[in-house]
Amino acid sequence: MPMPELQVLFSREQIARRVAELGADITRDFSGQSLVLLGVLKGASVFLSDLARSIQLDATFDFLGVSSYNNGIRHSGEVRLIKDVDVAMEDRNVLLVEDILDTGLTMTYLSKVLMAHQPRALRTVALLDKPARRVTPVRADYVGFEIPDEFVVGYGMDHAERYRNLPDICILPRHVL
Ligand code: IMP
Ligand code: MG
Repeated sequence: MPMPELQVLFSREQIARRVAELGADITRDFSGQSLVLLGVLKGASVFLSDLARSIQLDATFDFLGVSSYNNGIRHSGEVRLIKDVDVAMEDRNVLLVEDILDTGLTMTYLSKVLMAHQPRALRTVALLDKPARRVTPVRADYVGFEIPDEFVVGYGMDHAERYRNLPDICILPRHVL
C-alpha cells in the first residue's frame, strides 16, 4: 500500500523533550514513593517505554487492552476490557498511560475499572489531548500536548494498525480516513 503524504505535527526531538519534562514532573510528584505504570495497548506502548525511562522512581509497568475503535476512526461508544492487568494494584500508586485522550470514553471506563482495584492513588497521563472531541468530561493529570481535531499517527498510534512505527507524530490527511 502506498504511504500518503504525512505532515509532521511533533518531531521526534520535540516528543523526546516533552516526555522528559513529563517524566521529571512525575518523578517530583511521587518523590520517595513507588509507581505502577499501566499502558493501554497498543497505542501507548511506545510512549510508555520512553516515559518509564525518564521516571527516576522505583517503578514497574504493565499493560492492559481495550477494544473501542473498530477501524481507528469511529468510536463505537462502548469500551471493553480485552486484556486485564497482571499486577496487584491494591494500595499502590497507579499511573494510567494513554497515547491520546479523545472522546474520553476509554479513560473514563478504565478509571472506573482501576478504581475497583483500590489503588492508593490513580493518576493519568496522556501524551496527546484533543479537548474539542470530548463527549464525557474527563481530564488527564498530565498532558504532553494539546492538539486540534486532527487524526494523528506515529509514535505508537495507528490508522488501521499502520504507522505505529513512525518516530514522529504526523497528521493523516483527511482524504485517507
Ligand atoms: P477515546 O475513548 O475516544 O478517548 O479514545 C482514545 C483512543 O482512541 C486512543 O487511545 C487511541 O487509541 C484512539 N485515538 C483517538 N484519536 C486518535 C488519533 O488521532 N489517532 C490514532 N488513534 C486515536
Ligand atoms: Mg489507545
